[in-house]
Amino acid sequence: MAQNWTPNSWRQKPIQQVPDFPDMAALAAAEAQLATYPPLVFAGEARRLKSQLANVSEGKGFLLQGGDCAESFAEHGADTIRDFFRAFLQMAVVLTFGAQQPVVKVGRIAGQFAKPRSSNIERQNDVELPSYRGDIINGIEFNEKARIPDPERQIMAYRQSAATLNLLRAFAMGGYANLENVHQWMLGFVKESPQAERYRKLADRISETMDFMKAIGITSDNHPSLRETDFFTSHEALLLGYEQALTRVDSTSGDWYATSGHMIWVGDRTRQADHAHIEYCRGIKNPLGLKCGPSLTGDGLIELIDILNPANEAGRLTLICRFGHDKVAENLPRLIRAVEKEGRKVVWSCDPMHGNTITLNNYKTRPFERILSEVESFFQIHRAEGTHPGGIHIEMTGNDVTECTGGARALSGADLADRYHTHCDPRLNADQALELAFLLAERMKGGRDEKRMVVNG
Ligand code: PEP
Ligand code: CO
Repeated sequence: MAQNWTPNSWRQKPIQQVPDFPDMAALAAAEAQLATYPPLVFAGEARRLKSQLANVSEGKGFLLQGGDCAESFAEHGADTIRDFFRAFLQMAVVLTFGAQQPVVKVGRIAGQFAKPRSSNIERQNDVELPSYRGDIINGIEFNEKARIPDPERQIMAYRQSAATLNLLRAFAMGGYANLENVHQWMLGFVKESPQAERYRKLADRISETMDFMKAIGITSDNHPSLRETDFFTSHEALLLGYEQALTRVDSTSGDWYATSGHMIWVGDRTRQADHAHIEYCRGIKNPLGLKCGPSLTGDGLIELIDILNPANEAGRLTLICRFGHDKVAENLPRLIRAVEKEGRKVVWSCDPMHGNTITLNNYKTRPFERILSEVESFFQIHRAEGTHPGGIHIEMTGNDVTECTGGARALSGADLADRYHTHCDPRLNADQALELAFLLAERMKGGRDEKRMVVNG
């Protein structure tokens, strides 16, 4: 067990991004109540995810992680969850086909509510109010009352996470994810897009293969892996009081686990080695993510790895790199070299969203071509360094939103106003997400062919 660690030892450390709760007694009461609630996930599931990520760190798999920037109370409906899951499964199947490797599926969902902000204050015209920090903390409406942090929201977020997770488990295990349904995952609006034909062709090939397998006796009835899939949840562990309340001892191993989600990550703004968020994460046994932005040095990264993964356990730590399309070439190689030199086992994942945010017509947006460009560079750099480009971390939705510009339908700045619904950062719509998956699949195929040439040559 981590030395001198307890679920509340983070409270002794400096901390960034804490809300100003006006009523500390109400906060303590909400946390005490949460501490009596059942865990949302089990330690055994987190260990299963860790072992799948260990394979990825060894080059035998690919991590697909994605979902909303911020989940919201207002958009909590079955259709939204189902459409996200369909878009996500489509991406996964395209990637599995491209990489000919298992795809580890991790949603940014069922707990992704708390947001770090670059400013404590939001200004509109002449009015200044505390910034919105996610539905688990305060309301997005721009008025004084909504912006007061309310601890009751943590109870609501817990209940919403439980309901979301319940439906996701049903989809993953109850037949919806059956590969025989591969054609039905296509969303109505995607059917009109240029990606649709590509996806249909791929789905036809999968169906044909399934028919062949059926003919020789391999069916989804006798092979559960054809009808079920592992789907895991993740979120940024930002609101540590909430995380602490859901931190529990696993009775089989005696270890501490965060039971708010299978995997949690530390954001780019809260990854100071001697601060609270790193302190909390070092003591729990879940797989962890660490956001790596341009300010992280090679030495700084090794210091963090020493704290978060002292035993150098494969699958424990995923480095989620988010530099920006124009900064990745300057920053990623030095981090890879530092990790390689020290022989640290990590999963390298690319978040091509958070370094590519711009403002256009007063909307925060992300040009699709910059997202693709960061992903391309990420693959090229890993190929050049001889390391495994192990995953992608994206903000996406199954809804037909207009939040990121570009893509095959060439959304423009003027289109953003049409269906801009995000509670925080702009997300890829299902169309754009599928297009990204096809591009990734091509890059992975390229990597495979290269490896084969080396073996044969
Ligand atoms: C996020 O993932 O929504 C986020 C805030 O990312 P980062 O910490 O990388 O800025
Ligand atoms: Co975001």
